[in-house]
Amino acid sequence: MKTLLRIDSSLRIKGSYSRKMGDYFVELWKIKHPNGKIIERDIHLQMIPHLTQDTVNGFFDSTVSSKILALSDQLIEELYSNDDLLITCPMYNYGIPSSLKAYFDLIVRTEKTFTNDSNGIRGLLTDKKAYIISAMGMPQPQAEGKSSIEIQITRILNQIGILDISYFPVDGTVSPEQAIKKLEQQRERVCQHFNRSVLNSEIHRPT
Ligand SMILES: Cc1cc2nc3c(=O)[nH]c(=O)nc-3n(C[C@H](O)[C@H](O)[C@H](O)COP(=O)(O)O)c2cc1C
Repeated sequence: MKTLLRIDSSLRIKGSYSRKMGDYFVELWKIKHPNGKIIERDIHLQMIPHLTQDTVNGFFDSTVSSKILALSDQLIEELYSNDDLLITCPMYNYGIPSSLKAYFDLIVRTEKTFTNDSNGIRGLLTDKKAYIISAMGMPQPQAEGKSSIEIQITRILNQIGILDISYFPVDGTVSPEQAIKKLEQQRERVCQHFNRSVLNSEIHRPT
């Protein structure tokens, strides 16, 4: 059974473009995986505490109380147990929300989600597919490619081994007309993504 972990981070529960796009994505994901399971983690409603010295010490010292690492352990286990990862993310002050950063600070963990030796950093979550839905007030110039939040999330996911990532940005939300146009464009892209993958799985279905 295919599983999807959905992580939402907008402080807006109603009227959020990233959440709206996330809902649409999930609708299509469910059509593609009718028996699939979805785990929802709303890190705005269930805030993740900021990293502390004790927690970081625990990352490197197995004798540190397991209570200190309990949340980090739980979030990492949740990541491992899902096939697909959907992150919906607004831009706040040129970056990702601090809630999402706090989440990443607990899941990027040596010997758990990546290793670092003489050959460099090697991510351990190598069999996952991620989708990043972002929303930002200012229009993103086409020529600039990925936005700063897409770049940051990509680097973090790459570090833990997630390389297969699709992006659905809804930019320019400061203008409602532009936001609706962008939502439609990105919905079309999500739709194409799922149609294509359904088609591919039909083509590759063993005879
Ligand atoms: C505290 C705060 C900071 C923001 N900073 C930026 C920013 O740096 N750049 C930008 O383009 N939009 C910025 N915005 C606008 C949001 O990115 C925009 O409203 C986006 O649609 C929010 O995502 P949501 O619709 O999913 O809630 C900011 C909004 C808030 C509330």
